[in-house]
Amino acid sequence: MAPQQTRFIAFMAVMTVFTGFIQPWIQKSTTIFGFNREAIQHGTSTCTLEFPSHLTGCEDMHLYESEDGETRIMYLACSADLGKRTQWFPPGFHLNKTVVPEGPVRDNVFALDLNTNHLTRLDFHNFPADEDIVLHGFDFAQNSPHHLSFFFINHRRTGSVIEKFAHSIGTGQLYHHETFNVSEHGTHVPNDVLAISDSEFYVTNMRSSNPHTAHPLWSQFEIYTRRPWGHILHYSPSSGYSIAASNIPGANGITGTKDQVFVSAETDGAIYVYSRSAADGSLVREQIVPLNYMLDNPSLNPHTNELVIAGHPQIRGISQHQANPSIPAGSLVTRISVAQLGSGYFGGGNEVAAPAVEVLFSDYSGMVNASTTAVVDGEGTLWVTGLFTAGVAKCPNPEGKVHNFKKKAERVY
Ligand SMILES: *[C@@H]1O[C@H](CO)[C@@H](O)[C@H](O)[C@H]1NC(C)=O
Ligand SMILES: *[C@@H]1O[C@H](CO)[C@@H](O)[C@H](O)[C@H]1NC(C)=O
Ligand SMILES: *[C@@H]1O[C@H](CO)[C@@H](O)[C@H](O)[C@H]1NC(C)=O
Repeated sequence: MAPQQTRFIAFMAVMTVFTGFIQPWIQKSTTIFGFNREAIQHGTSTCTLEFPSHLTGCEDMHLYESEDGETRIMYLACSADLGKRTQWFPPGFHLNKTVVPEGPVRDNVFALDLNTNHLTRLDFHNFPADEDIVLHGFDFAQNSPHHLSFFFINHRRTGSVIEKFAHSIGTGQLYHHETFNVSEHGTHVPNDVLAISDSEFYVTNMRSSNPHTAHPLWSQFEIYTRRPWGHILHYSPSSGYSIAASNIPGANGITGTKDQVFVSAETDGAIYVYSRSAADGSLVREQIVPLNYMLDNPSLNPHTNELVIAGHPQIRGISQHQANPSIPAGSLVTRISVAQLGSGYFGGGNEVAAPAVEVLFSDYSGMVNASTTAVVDGEGTLWVTGLFTAGVAKCPNPEGKVHNFKKKAERVY
């Protein structure tokens, strides 16, 4: 072939690969990471900041409501010392085991009574005095009318584990029962837990790179190239540990019921929906719901059957904020209806559509820095918190703003 012809064919091949694969990939990354996202303020005018000096760095929170609705307690897993968290928090690349002052790191679990606005710090019992409690995601299951079993991720400096504690509702105590060594089962960067019962749980693993042993650049590579290397580990006494789902880009928060599990694929900007087999705990992926921002913890509102999803609108903001919390970062919370998932739009059948996405809260003013969890309670009040933020934002009557992410996805919100 003439050199000119060869050059032309090579050029066309490069263009085909570029327009077919690379360009859409770049476009999707730009959208999810929010490189062009406008900093639009929404839903923050009714909010107040609750207990900013006690509820610091509460990465996760879960609401307990009794069946009669008389008891409503928000449990929160918070940092006792944000300075220590910037020394030691492996998922956020803080890997300096020398924390000051010396001694175990002891984060705080709080119970906020939503009826009385009374805040209680829970005491840890039966836990080794010299061990760390470095909190991240957690969940609880109700065993009986008055008792809950909590499963907390604990990023001990000797390796990340899950700690099970028993709690009687209305008391200020947590009794340690068991430690689950999930690192031993390849789950080195656990992020969040879904408790199914007092002995069965799922835990997400964000990335395949072990922050304790791998160079931090490997984790950065996984994040920025959105590698699908996260997974969900399942544990039950009868089946032991098993990988229930893999191929998840940045498996972050997890929530669900006995039949359905929802996971935030953070770097795919999507909720992965799984059906669950109660018999063996196995998960089958049914749907990917694109939301087009970096998703953190989802929570399920049992009153409305809606998912409320907190996350990070701009990757630049969250990475700078994680490295140095005195740099503020934006927050974004959306809502989708579970009834619109699967073929719900079409009244059953085989067709599947993306559900409507509503923006509930979008903040760039520092009211909440880098939202990690949002919960809507039985009265419809929205609560928003974050890994390094002070206090919890309480927003009565949030107004959903329907947003079509397909149009102008990279411009609005
Ligand atoms: C780890 O933290 C200690 C205490 O703040 C500090 O003295 C030390 O220089 C830090 N090490 C590294 C590698 O940053
Ligand atoms: C978990 O397992 C790892 C690897 O076997 C071990 O190094 C670590 O000490 C264990 N952690 C606990 C709390 O038992
Ligand atoms: C968010 O970060 C900024 C900068 O550090 C800070 O001034 C502000 O108080 C923070 N907001 C909260 C709620 O912590």
